[in-house]
Amino acid sequence: MVDIKKVLETLGITEVNAGVSTGVNWFETEGAVTASFSPIDGKEIGKVKNGTLDDYEMVIKKAQEAFKEWRLVPAPIRAEVVRQIGLELRKYKDELGALVTYEMGKIYQEGLGEVQEMIDICDFAVGQARLMNGVSLQSERREHRLFEQYQPLGVVGIVTSYNFPVAVWAWNSALAITAGDVVIWKPSSKTPLTAVATQKIIGDVLKRNNVPEGVFNLIVAKSSVMGDNFLADKRVNLLSVTGSTAVGKRVGGIVGKRLGKTILELGGNNAVIMTPHANIPMAVTSTVFGTVGTAGQRCTTTRRIIIHESIYDQVRDHLVAAYKKIEHKVGNPLDENFLVGPLIDKHSVTLFRNAVEQVEKEGGKVLFGGQVMEGPGFESGNYVMPCIAEAENHYEIVQEETFAPIVYLIKYSGDVMNAIEIQNDVPQGLSSAIFTDNMREAELFTSVAGSDCGIANVNAGTSGAEIGGAFGGEKDTGGGRESGSDAWKAYMRRQTSTVNYGTELPLAQGIKFDL
Ligand code: UN1
Repeated sequence: MVDIKKVLETLGITEVNAGVSTGVNWFETEGAVTASFSPIDGKEIGKVKNGTLDDYEMVIKKAQEAFKEWRLVPAPIRAEVVRQIGLELRKYKDELGALVTYEMGKIYQEGLGEVQEMIDICDFAVGQARLMNGVSLQSERREHRLFEQYQPLGVVGIVTSYNFPVAVWAWNSALAITAGDVVIWKPSSKTPLTAVATQKIIGDVLKRNNVPEGVFNLIVAKSSVMGDNFLADKRVNLLSVTGSTAVGKRVGGIVGKRLGKTILELGGNNAVIMTPHANIPMAVTSTVFGTVGTAGQRCTTTRRIIIHESIYDQVRDHLVAAYKKIEHKVGNPLDENFLVGPLIDKHSVTLFRNAVEQVEKEGGKVLFGGQVMEGPGFESGNYVMPCIAEAENHYEIVQEETFAPIVYLIKYSGDVMNAIEIQNDVPQGLSSAIFTDNMREAELFTSVAGSDCGIANVNAGTSGAEIGGAFGGEKDTGGGRESGSDAWKAYMRRQTSTVNYGTELPLAQGIKFDL
């Protein structure tokens, strides 16, 4: 098993850690000293000195100053720093992955996977650096050139959630930094140490490359210090926020009021459809990773399984059998024998229990799990047995995202279109999947009349997206896109330019205006 003491030592995490940095420099702050506890065993991992309002002011001024310099550095040179960050992350992959596991609770394999996402997006950004291109257009005027280009935006605020405590920062910052922006990272108060460790890992690279202080900023702070004021701050040109729909609505409201920009990556209520043409063993194996992976704490976790009535009993029995195998796989996520770790805290356990009780109250039936684990190894009180419940889509609890491992089985009859309607009939729109070997069903699912989600997969589960595609969703999921594809555009300012290289002054639309 991983030696956590050694991991902390390698990552430079001590008993009390500074929580504010502008790159290489760390600051002695006067804010609250908070502790981070492991959901695995409830033990304190370390303390963090939080930032104050004064620290926030200092950082934002530094960031603004740094932007003036950073935007002048050519994008491929900016990306060279990102490339080296990717190399540094490779060096510390095992340790950072282990700390993600220890502080957040996902299994070590997933902790490593999270760091791999960071590495992948760094590689992606390096290539992107030479392709942040606009377009050349045809001008209607003689001897005029019309084109569009993308310019750096400025200060980008990145607010991350505990469930992907470092990868989502990397998605945002790798692109933002390459785009010529500077970033201010506010990590989740539940996982500040993974953020501190990451900032330390990149510190060496920043030093070697003489990156100005203020390009990569980190502030561990309470929401009373860096909450609505951060959102309302006009000096922050873009806010990229990952969190619940409730949080996103607040962010959207405050930032929208000042007509600021946001990238919102909010809750999902992701469904898998299994049609009579599904390869059932494959569908079940894939779906179980989607339902219990990360103990149900991914935005992309499978929360509903919509099954055709003709295969319903068979799928249900397969699923319950698969969960029975997991019964003995709930435990310490640092131990590679286990597949399901703890929930982040007791509050999440309460939400999980409430969902189990509510689905029964609304007429559903629990088929497996739902209990809080007790006994040796489970003393932290954060471990639960993943739950499968039969339910109907219109139940209030089914319409909500419960950020825990509870999945609802829903029966459909008739055509696949009926399943697609059920799948779309929730407020959220992040991820979705269909299992079928029937080409027409698969195509319909990804067609204009198909899934209304930001992600729609065929014979692949709802979670575990690659970084190459744009990541995000519609409706209550917030509409933002991060990570691959052309998500870089959100971090840049779009500009249309007309250059007259002639000696005449023709006006557009042929207007005559002779003085
Ligand atoms: C999240 O849960 O916020 O697609 C991100 C996935 C991961 C990212 C999830 N690559 O499940």
